[in-house]
Amino acid sequence: VSSISRSLSQLHSRPSFGIAFDIDGVLLLGSTPIGGSQKALAKLYEDNGALKVPYVFLTNGGGVTESKRASDLSSILGVDILPSQVIQGHSPFKKLAKRFENDLVVAAGKGEPAEVMYEYGFNAVSIDEYASCFDNIDPLAPYKIWGVRQTDPKPASRKVSKGDIMSQRVKAAFIVSDPVDWSRDIQVLCDILRTGGLPGREVGKQPPLYFANDDLEYQAAFPSERLGMGAFRIALESVYNRIHPVGLEYTSYGKPNPFVFENAESVLKELLLLNATGSNKEAAHQFKKLYMVGDNPSVDINGARKAGHPWFSILTRTGVFKGKDNHPKYPADLVVDTVEEAVNFILSKEA
Ligand code: G3P
Ligand code: MG
Repeated sequence: VSSISRSLSQLHSRPSFGIAFDIDGVLLLGSTPIGGSQKALAKLYEDNGALKVPYVFLTNGGGVTESKRASDLSSILGVDILPSQVIQGHSPFKKLAKRFENDLVVAAGKGEPAEVMYEYGFNAVSIDEYASCFDNIDPLAPYKIWGVRQTDPKPASRKVSKGDIMSQRVKAAFIVSDPVDWSRDIQVLCDILRTGGLPGREVGKQPPLYFANDDLEYQAAFPSERLGMGAFRIALESVYNRIHPVGLEYTSYGKPNPFVFENAESVLKELLLLNATGSNKEAAHQFKKLYMVGDNPSVDINGARKAGHPWFSILTRTGVFKGKDNHPKYPADLVVDTVEEAVNFILSKEA
């Protein structure tokens, strides 16, 4: 039993508020903590390391399993984070695993996209592995001087042979995290999508395509914003719609979709009820307030606003938003400089 569940069960009266933290541009720039994030999170724990306030990470990013992300974040941020506290852009893909049971699906993006999908229950192949099965599918490959880092481990139990990959119809494509090689991925995805999942073979109905988020830009370590998955989606869609008579069909997950906030609310509830017993367990917990701390007005603040009660949005100036006043189109309930300031405000309000 983790210190978190022990501590929450011991709380005399359970807190009626919770916090969802965006990661990029709020807690981290690349992998560097910003805005006093380590100090801010430390304030949510007792001196003995037990958790005082239920909180989750609500990021549109991803590329690794929730458990790996939890352990990476724990070492960067200096607190003990549970996998269940990590909600990534691709986390809702898990709910689709039943629909594609035994189907071959392709997973694209940086990090370990196939590993993530495998853990969710999919029979997934990374787009790197998929592309490597088809000779000459990317005519630019010989000109690419970089190598693809082999980070996606392939346990023997799920090794799919080249022959199997080439003969099986791809039933869906998932953009799990930001794609690395846009030109190769646009080419290979167009091949999969316009042939009904059999590149180079025939023309067929487009298989479903899912994106983990639709962020046009996000804040990383470079001073100005970087192009995100939404930019890749526009590139893919523009090309596809020029080479194919029927427009690209796709579904995007992630913030600002209201269901992401509903899911965060239930995860926060579960976190709170984790070790509760008896009448405590039966009493349905209603949060009076849930705080979303984000840096991106059109994603984090827009999402919290659309989700409505009990969400309260706090915009920091450490990421995409760098304005002096509030954002004109998606004004937050509160604008602060840093995440530490946000946590100080929350704790003073809820004390
Ligand atoms: O690729 C990550 C980015 O799109 C957003 O991450 O943590 O700001 O939601 P975050
Ligand atoms: Mg962000």
